[in-house]
This record gives sequence, C-alpha cells and structure tokens, in this order.
Amino acid sequence: MRLLVTGGCGFIGSAFVHMAIARGAEVVNLDKLTYAGNLANVEDVAGEPGYSFVHADIGDADAVREAMAGVDAVVNFAAESHVDRSILDPGEFIRTDVLGTAVLLGAARAAAAGRFVQVSTDEVYGSIPSGAFHETDPISPSSPYSASKAGGDLQVLAWHRTYGVDVVVTRGSNTFGPRQYPEKLIPLFVTNALDGRPLPVYGDGMQVRDWIYVDDHCEGIWTAMTRGEPGTVYNVGGGYEAPNLEITRRILELTDAGEDLIRYVEDRPGHDRRYALDTGRLRGLGWQPARAFEEALAETVAWYRDRREWWEPIKSGEYRRYYERQYGERQKTTTEGAC
Ligand code: NAD
Ligand code: TYD
Repeated sequence: MRLLVTGGCGFIGSAFVHMAIARGAEVVNLDKLTYAGNLANVEDVAGEPGYSFVHADIGDADAVREAMAGVDAVVNFAAESHVDRSILDPGEFIRTDVLGTAVLLGAARAAAAGRFVQVSTDEVYGSIPSGAFHETDPISPSSPYSASKAGGDLQVLAWHRTYGVDVVVTRGSNTFGPRQYPEKLIPLFVTNALDGRPLPVYGDGMQVRDWIYVDDHCEGIWTAMTRGEPGTVYNVGGGYEAPNLEITRRILELTDAGEDLIRYVEDRPGHDRRYALDTGRLRGLGWQPARAFEEALAETVAWYRDRREWWEPIKSGEYRRYYERQYGERQKTTTEGAC
C-alpha cells in the first residue's frame, strides 16, 4: 500500500507515519514545515526505503499532483491546528484547512488516488452540555479553527456526493502524547511545570475535554481508512473526560511541581465548555482505545522530561513572540480565586 500523508511532520501525522511504515506501507510525506512541522518528528523513519518527503503546501496543485502519483490513499493531517492562534489570526486557517483541502481533493479526483481520509476534529460539533455527539449531529463550530475544519469536512463530503470520490472523515477528540507542539494544554503545561513556570488556566478551568492517546487516535484513523464505508464520518474519542483543572493537577503531581504554579487567566473567547463523542460507529469496525489515560499521561510526561532537546529549541524565537502575544495581557488579568 502506498500512502500520501500530508502534515506528517506534525504531532499526530508523524505518529501515523511511524505506524504506517511499521506496517509495511510506503509513505510519501508532504508537509509545508510550518512552525508546527518538525523534521525531527520523522528522523527515525527518514532512512527507511518506503519513506519519502516532499516539502510543499497542500494548496500547491502542481506539487500535490506529482506527490499523488500511484498512491492507494491520501490521509490529510495537514492543517493549522491551534484554536488560540486561529483567534489571533484566522486567515491561514482558511487558506490551509478549507482551500488547501479543496486543492487536495481536486488532485485526488483527477488522479483517481483511491481513498481520501480527512482527519478532522470533534470541535466541528461545538459544545455539548451533556451526552455525546453522534456523527449524524449537526455541526456548529465556535472558533475560526473549528469553522475552517468544518469547511474542509463539508468539501470532502460534497466531493463524495458530487464526484464519487471515495472519502472517509474521522473526527478525533483532544489528543496527547510525545512530539506534540507545546502550545496545546498538555505539552504546554508539562514543559512549563518542568521549568517551574506558571500554568495559565483559562476561566474557571472546569471546561471538559475527551482525551485520547495519540496511538489510539492513529489506530482509529487506520481503521476508518482500511475498513470504513465510503462517504462516512467516524468519531474517534478516547472516552476519558476530565475538566482542565483535573488534568492540570495531575501534571503538577507527575512533574513534582506545586499548585502555586496555577494562574487563572482571562478565558478564551467563544470557549467550548464540553466535548464528548459517541464512538459506537468506529467500534462497530473493531476499533477501541487501548491505553488507560493515567498510564499514557505518565509516559507522556516522562517523554518530555527526557527529551528537553526536542522542546527547548521550540520554546524560543517565534514561540516566545507568540507566547507574549497570547498570554502577556491575559496574565495581567488573572482571575484569582475563580474556582
Ligand atoms: P500539528 O499542528 O502538530 O501538525 C500540522 C502539520 O501540518 C505540521 O507538520 C505542519 O507543518 C503541516 N501543515 C500545516 N499547513 C500545511 C500546508 N498548508 N501544507 C502542508 N502541510 C501543512 O497538528 P496535529 O495536532 O498533529 O493535528 C493533525 C490533524 O489532526 C489536524 O488536521 C487537526 O485538525 C486534527 N486533529 C488534531 C487534534 C489534536 O488534539 N491535536 C484532535 C483532533 C483532530
Ligand atoms: P487546547 O489544548 O488548546 O485544545 P482545544 O482548544 O482544541 O480543546 O486546549 C484544551 C483545553 O485547555 C481548552 O479547554 C482550553 C484549555 N487551555 C487552558 O486553560 N490554558 C491554556 O494555556 C491552553 C493552551 C488551553
């Protein structure tokens, strides 16, 4: 099997590339290497005979067409992926997550490139106060990020209905594990705690997310790719629901840091209160998450403790400018005692 994986130098994409190579697939990894893309994430597969890398934008029709030659499936991880950055600057999200996805789809159709797997997110559904989202529920995204991802999903599903392209869409929940760029909750808080820096908790910290370990998420994508029905959406959730404050306290324990590092800061605008997914459809294909949250979180914290050479260079330069822009004013408007 020959796969075009886009965004394979990012967090989840690189884990998927490792999985695919280990399973004997040939992988063409096409990545623009944005601030979130990192060649170090794929350095241990880079020498494998079945692996090749194309440095390109998914919005570049010529590069995409060339990379797609002879593939059996396209797995689209490439995206601008961080909600907070989308609030600061939505333009790039629309360019990559909507327009880029449409360029890829056009090329996949022209090349008859087999199955198109769109890696999407539970955030397209919006917030749910109780119960869990099913794939048939309407989408109601809150942030420029989730609205862009929803735009991508709708293109993908329309390409199936209109042109008969063989597509599946996976909607994954909040994912954690090694090699995650330290702007998302878990890697940001782990690396800050290891450095004795404050952990900026938005609002009251009681927002709930459904957490999944990265390899379980990749296994779900693999299952949908190999066994999913054409034109179908599959939720991929770990089923471990917890408020942010509980995750924060676990991280403090695992890093031997004190609760004095917690800073309640101004909330994120449009902040979804709770995400939860019904995963019955994917479980019907034989998938289920394998990793217990506590154990996987402890392993993840250990990875960041042992791999400072991976994240210390990231947390400088552009990252510092972003951090100041994102948290500078917020830190001053601490909502102490919010909880
Ligand atoms: P990431 O930000 O770590 O990686 C994104 C990768 O895409 C990077 O390597 C980047 O260089 C590349 N990229 C960005 N724009 C590109 C473009 N125009 N052309 C080519 N490459 C480009 O993201 P991630 O956390 O690994 O997420 C991967 C996918 O999974 C995304 O589509 C995201 O929406 C989805 N997802 C993520 C989560 C999560 O919790 N991280 C949960 C559900 C779904
Ligand atoms: P995040 O990792 O950005 O993922 P998403 O917004 O896609 O769910 O955030 C997870 C949760 O953690 C979300 O409720 C926002 C919250 N959060 C904080 O409280 N502080 C932070 O500095 C960050 C990055 C997130």
